[in-house]
Amino acid sequence: MRPRRFRPTGPLKGRLRVPGDKSISHRAIMLSALAVGESRISGLLEGEDVLATAAAMRSMGAHVERQRDGTWVVNGVGVGALLQPEAPLDMGNSGTSTRLLMGLLASHPLQATFVGDASLSKRPMGRVIEPLSQMGADVTASVGGRLPLILRGASPAVPISYRLPVASAQVKSAILLAGLNTPGRTTVIEPVPTRDHSERMLRGFGADLSVDVEADGTRVITVAGDAELRPQLIDVPGDPSSAAFFLVAGLIVPGSDLVIENVGLNATRAGVIEVLRAMGGSIEELGRREVGGEPVADLRVRHSTLSGIEVDPALAPSMIDEFPVLFVAAALAQGTTITTGLEELRVKESDRIAVMAAALQAAGARVEERADGLGIHGSGGDLLTGTEATVETHLDHRIAMSMAVAGLASRAGVEIDDTRPIATSFPAFETMLAQLAPEEDAL
Ligand code: S3P
Repeated sequence: MRPRRFRPTGPLKGRLRVPGDKSISHRAIMLSALAVGESRISGLLEGEDVLATAAAMRSMGAHVERQRDGTWVVNGVGVGALLQPEAPLDMGNSGTSTRLLMGLLASHPLQATFVGDASLSKRPMGRVIEPLSQMGADVTASVGGRLPLILRGASPAVPISYRLPVASAQVKSAILLAGLNTPGRTTVIEPVPTRDHSERMLRGFGADLSVDVEADGTRVITVAGDAELRPQLIDVPGDPSSAAFFLVAGLIVPGSDLVIENVGLNATRAGVIEVLRAMGGSIEELGRREVGGEPVADLRVRHSTLSGIEVDPALAPSMIDEFPVLFVAAALAQGTTITTGLEELRVKESDRIAVMAAALQAAGARVEERADGLGIHGSGGDLLTGTEATVETHLDHRIAMSMAVAGLASRAGVEIDDTRPIATSFPAFETMLAQLAPEEDAL
């Protein structure tokens, strides 16, 4: 364990560039590994989660290499031609690697064992096992549909039409990836839209994929099987989920004025910006453009007086990973913030409702935990007291970074039990924070 106290700082000033988008990075490696020929990826997130995906694709025959200039070069094997991995696939902390790769393998004649860390081994895999079993895959999982599990792919797999019972881009993507090597057409019906990076990138690689939007907003996504993917040049935009920590830090630390460059603003990911603005946050978009088929902009964020709000649960899928840090913003706002409809947060890298409630209470915030969200009575801009005891982060990178941000706006600082999980999605977080905002002791 690597504990650390995050102390109050002076204003955050300057410019930063957050690392590549985690969701897009996983997909870029996987699809490149399925295309015949050489793909080149720039801006890839080199976090542990994505490296787990890269290692898995290598163990199934793809050549995946980082060049000196930071470009990743992938030579793919072709859809249907993945090789049997010789050792268990170690997914580390990464739910995205696990669920998407289970999909990919479900329609290949392979057997693979999936293992992960203590956090990942508690997370439910039944949500992908169910549709992939309908497609013919055979999965033997640990109690409760958890890791470690053994998956035997089907050849040929059976195309299905599947209505998602939970709003999950991981489940959607698992089925679409399985559909690539399945004869016929595989359909996912998505009543509540979730991040659409898989759809965009599959099209970019030349898959035959259609999206029909019904009158009530339901999306019907169909992919044709026996796909042939063409290698691509991919530029990965900055991760809005990583940017969110600096957005909130800039908003709550007095005197801050920051520019976060190259942030992905795909509408299925940008909910947190909308909510922070509705709370009174000054977040300005500079130079909207397109990178790698995704909208991006630089974001200027300035310290702001925030007000509590009721967050529309319909926005949840577009900011599902940003709630921990939104709770921190709410803890510093004037008045009460209410969040509802967040049951999914309980099955992320940790139970983010319970863990954030305990962590914020330990830091002096007034928080009520409910089954599907938190009610937070903000401090009205006053600093939080900070923690005496150490906050438990439960192997959850986003809890660690959120509470680090809370520490910046506290009197005594916030001590977290372990900073190591931060490397799963944002290895340079602590260095960037130190550059932008020297700790007050050090001023
Ligand atoms: C992801 C989807 C989301 C998100 C996760 C990444 C993806 O999970 O929380 O960090 O890349 O598809 P769910 O699909 O389980 O909501």
